[in-house]
Amino acid sequence: MKIYKTKNYEEMSRKAAHIISAQVTLKPDSILGLATGSTPIGTYENLVKWYEDGDLDFSGITTVNLDEYKGLPRDNDQSYYYFMHHHLFDHVNIPDGRTHLPDGTKEDSDQECRQYEELIQSLGGVDLQLLGLGHNGHIGFNEPDDIFPDDTHCVNLQERTIEANKRFFASADEVPRQAYTMGIGTIMRAKKILIVVSGADKADTVKEAFFGPITPKVPASILQLHPDVTLVADEAALSKID
Ligand code: F6R
Repeated sequence: MKIYKTKNYEEMSRKAAHIISAQVTLKPDSILGLATGSTPIGTYENLVKWYEDGDLDFSGITTVNLDEYKGLPRDNDQSYYYFMHHHLFDHVNIPDGRTHLPDGTKEDSDQECRQYEELIQSLGGVDLQLLGLGHNGHIGFNEPDDIFPDDTHCVNLQERTIEANKRFFASADEVPRQAYTMGIGTIMRAKKILIVVSGADKADTVKEAFFGPITPKVPASILQLHPDVTLVADEAALSKID
C-alpha cells in the first residue's frame, strides 16, 4: 500500500484529484469507480475546476458508483444519484448514459444487484476505484460482518451508519434502512484503489483497517490484500500511526 500523508483536508483533496486526473489523462477511456460521502467532495471540486480550466477531458470516461440508498427517488437531494450530479456529473463532460449507480428505486433487490454486477463486468471492470472509510471500517455500505460479501447486494444499514448519515435528513427516521452496494469482491476486483481519509475521528479506524488483522469485522482491512492501493490521508487521520 502506498500512503500519502497530507497536512490537511484541502491537500488530501488535491492529491487525490491529481491521482484521478493522471488516470483520466493516461487512459482516457477509463472506468472510474466513485464514492459519495463528505470526504471526496473536495476531490470532486478540484476535478471540476481543472475541467473548467481546460486541463481535463472526461469525454471518454465511464463511471460506476459504489452504492445507493434503496427506496429514495433519484431526485431526492439525499440520493447518491443527486449527490453525484450535484458535485461532479453536472459540471464535467462525462457523456450522458455513461454515469452509473445502482438504482435505489428498483424494488427487486436481487435483480437490480445482479444487473449492476453484470454491468461492471460488461464494462471490463473498474480501472480506479475511489473509496471513503466509515468510522466502523465500512467501505461502500459493506458493514462489519462475519464474512466478506462478494458481489453487489442489498444491505440493512447499521445503527451507527444511520446515526452518521442522519445529519443529511430531517430526522433519523427518514434515513433509509437499506442500500444497494458493490460487494467486497466487486471492490477488490478493481485494478487500482484510491482511498481518502480525513480527520482525527478516523485515526483509530485507519490504524485498525490498515495496520491491524484482516477481518470482516473491519471490512476495509481486506484492502491490505489488494496489489495496488493508495491511501491519501491527512495528518489527523494518520495520527495513530507511528
Ligand atoms: C459512500 C460510501 C461510504 C463512505 C463512508 C465515509 O459512497 O461508500 O462508505 O465512503 O461512509 O463517509 P464520509 O466520507 O462521509 O466520512
